[in-house]
Amino acid sequence: PSFEDFLAALPKVELHVHLEGSMQPATLLALADKHRISDLQRSLAEIRSWYEFRDFDHFLEVYRQAVDVLRDDDDFALLAVEVIRALARQNVRYAEVNFSLSDHLKRGIPADVVFAGLERGREQVEAEHDITIRWVPDFAGDFGVAAGQATLEAVLAHGPASVLGFSVGGLEVEREPFGDLFSRARAHGLRSLPHAGETEGPDRVWSAIHALGADRIGHGIGSMRDPALVDYLREQQLPLDVSPTSNLCTRSVSSLEEHPLPYMLDAGLLVTLNSDDPPMFGTDLTGEYRTAARMGLDRATLAQLARNGVHAGFAVPARKTALV
Ligand code: ADE
Ligand code: ZN
Repeated sequence: PSFEDFLAALPKVELHVHLEGSMQPATLLALADKHRISDLQRSLAEIRSWYEFRDFDHFLEVYRQAVDVLRDDDDFALLAVEVIRALARQNVRYAEVNFSLSDHLKRGIPADVVFAGLERGREQVEAEHDITIRWVPDFAGDFGVAAGQATLEAVLAHGPASVLGFSVGGLEVEREPFGDLFSRARAHGLRSLPHAGETEGPDRVWSAIHALGADRIGHGIGSMRDPALVDYLREQQLPLDVSPTSNLCTRSVSSLEEHPLPYMLDAGLLVTLNSDDPPMFGTDLTGEYRTAARMGLDRATLAQLARNGVHAGFAVPARKTALV
């Protein structure tokens, strides 16, 4: 088959994608209009240039402004339907979808409103397509420990059974202060899914492992600077969620040639391919497979990355068997 047919037919899973960062620009504009947010009355072309980031901090600034168009349960349901349908269209059968709960709580939106919208969207699209969605609420590390605690409380009080894990994202501050928080989350059966080694180095990945008990590492590209860490990740087969286009667009790497994905595979690490915030980076999951091909990976390796995703995800075993 042609390369495009091969990619389309490849059964994929998505383990690292942010719901809010998956909002299409047209939806962003429609919601800005609905809520009369004058700062965001822009053209599609203006949104595209707004999505050109100087660095990771700048990306985060834009992301948080974009998130602010989500105000009521209908907005969250609309977004969930849009995002899950886009995954299903790419032959994604299983996805763990991150969402920025701490940002919504900080803006005064109650957790039950967020969960009501997300669940309505999930149930609707799961009934239409062969896809299973699990939620991963995230808090921004730079909001501090108290905000992380409030986020976890909200999850424990209002989270449905489709909540699978707990994540820390935002600015990549030190991970040790969140140790107790993640212990509590894990004691409640939530998987530990922190971002670490995205913009920072191996020390953040080590603390995600030791202090947060990470079940997978979000990005982890900074790990490659520490051979002992690389050995540990290989021995433990601790999965890493890798997103080359995201790293390029947030300038966490300065070029694709510099991206460590090929070295991570050569080193025997359990790597999966993910889209992170696809429209903000001009990509989607299929686009990340195209990018990986441009980085020199052949079809067999791309198929292996897709299987790694099944392996590294937390779908129930029966579902996993159906996915391979
Ligand atoms: N929030 C949305 N996208 C993120 C990323 N790539 N890293 C950390 N926090 C995020
Ligand atoms: Zn992320």
